[in-house]
Amino acid sequence: MGLKLTYMDGQTPLDPEQLNGLKIKTIHSQQQLNEFEQTNINEALKWLNAKSKLKIVISEEFIIQLHKRMFGMVWKWAGQFRRVETNIGIDWTKIAIELKLLVDDTNFWVEHQSYMPEEIAIRFKHRLVSIHCFPNGNGRHSRIMADLIVLQVFGLNKFSWGQYSLVENSEQRKLYLYALKQADNGNFSELMKFARS
Ligand SMILES: Nc1ncnc2c1ncn2[C@@H]1O[C@H](COP(=O)(O)OP(=O)(O)O)[C@@H](O)[C@H]1O
Ligand SMILES: [Mg+2]
Repeated sequence: MGLKLTYMDGQTPLDPEQLNGLKIKTIHSQQQLNEFEQTNINEALKWLNAKSKLKIVISEEFIIQLHKRMFGMVWKWAGQFRRVETNIGIDWTKIAIELKLLVDDTNFWVEHQSYMPEEIAIRFKHRLVSIHCFPNGNGRHSRIMADLIVLQVFGLNKFSWGQYSLVENSEQRKLYLYALKQADNGNFSELMKFARS
């Protein structure tokens, strides 16, 4: 079928087996793929709005369910943990245990107010995307998770993430990747600033 995808800096390329998981066989370009994924993500956002009366729980179950809601119309492996190594992300065999540790740590931070609310959301987001649970979509998924934490756990406004789509190669995306690299070194202030820019 010849689907040609172009990869930017800071993206995880898909391997052939994952590409086989494409549910919509009429997709032939990166742009079409981005559009279908965005439509699917919009459906997930509607679902989240509809259930916004329920306070989200930071749990493995919810994290998996959200990924499935965001990408399940496009990819067969939505909501399933990665089983291959990727350029970003930990050894895939450690995903389940690292995700559990992250969930436990984050709930502890919330309960004990270990950091300011926004810092909790950003630390969570960065560790989540660094684990890289899924074959793809981890960046978009982690940003929505961070939005949900500030909004629903702390009652603050959602983040703006530079106000532009970070899916395209842009100046905003460069700033975002710079901030992520700072966070890789344990400095979260740039990512917190970017999230509110
Ligand atoms: N150095 C880094 N440290 C942490 N996260 C990173 C780094 N570089 C890129 N990322 C994250 O990985 C994401 C790419 O992973 P991917 O699964 O392709 O997500 P998506 O398809 O939503 O862009 C980027 O959007 C970014 O959030
Ligand atoms: Mg990607």
